[in-house]
Amino acid sequence: MAPTALITGATAGIGAQFARDRAAAGMDLILVARDAERLDAFCAQLAQEHGVRATPVPADLTRPEGLAAVEKVLTTEPIDLLVNNAGLGLNKSFLKSDVEDELHLLNLNIVAVMRLTHSALPKMVERGKGAIVNVSSVAGFAATMPGSTYPASKAWVTSFSEAVGMLVKHRGVRVMALCPGFTRTEFHQRAGIAAHQMPGFVWLQAPDVVRQGMRDLRKGKLVSVPSVRYKVAVGALKITPRALLHRIMPRGAKSMGRTVGDSQ
Ligand SMILES: NC(=O)c1ccc[n+]([C@@H]2O[C@H](COP(=O)([O-])OP(=O)(O)OC[C@H]3O[C@@H](n4cnc5c(N)ncnc54)[C@H](OP(=O)(O)O)[C@@H]3O)[C@@H](O)[C@H]2O)c1
Repeated sequence: MAPTALITGATAGIGAQFARDRAAAGMDLILVARDAERLDAFCAQLAQEHGVRATPVPADLTRPEGLAAVEKVLTTEPIDLLVNNAGLGLNKSFLKSDVEDELHLLNLNIVAVMRLTHSALPKMVERGKGAIVNVSSVAGFAATMPGSTYPASKAWVTSFSEAVGMLVKHRGVRVMALCPGFTRTEFHQRAGIAAHQMPGFVWLQAPDVVRQGMRDLRKGKLVSVPSVRYKVAVGALKITPRALLHRIMPRGAKSMGRTVGDSQ
């Protein structure tokens, strides 16, 4: 039996690229997203192109029944790779946002990641093999967007993944936070972010993000930052005094259309 990857947010952007990459590597797929029609079509396409099994699990991960459906798969079937990729941004100042929208973001970016990791890990540890990639963001390395929960949610994903990764790494299981910078996907359009205001050099391509992420996972890294330019940026963020960051970040956000990282 071929190894199996379960990928959330698999119909677009980084998640769809993970699905293509793993299908090309011969893994069977279980793919999750809300749009059932798009999900069915993508599964059929991958199965035909790569000769793998691709099973759609239509589910909204912000809803209890959606989470329960995916948790059931993770606790009953042997999963070799879980990619917690589904996530969203909010392009509104915290002063103007709707609290329901903020909760929706936290439910998808944090609660779903924690619950699906919690469901998948025991079986992986029992089998002594398996890996989890939690898709975070470089936005999680600093409070880049004052007034937004997005960078805070990604700081949580990175910290959580590192902690759990350390917990299970001696038991044959890997957990890694993948922290891309701006990547060309549907993310910015969905969040209403003016992506055209970003200079060309900030953009990564999903195939490069996934290739570098999978390479870092094989190396056993707990945190992966794809591309030299974002490694340098994250290194600079780590050594810059916080007081200085607090002065320059709001100005940077304003000059980039009030958007830094991948949301505001
Ligand atoms: N793009 C960037 O610049 C960037 C940078 C750093 C980090 N990231 C992170 O990368 C991850 C993937 O983002 P992306 O850029 O690839 O986004 P994207 O192109 O907008 O794709 C989002 C995917 O998630 C699914 N999805 C959205 N809400 C969902 C829900 N409630 N339940 C289940 N599935 C849901 C979407 O399908 P449906 O709409 O059919 O559900 C779609 O398949 C996110 O965690 C994001 O924070 C992105």
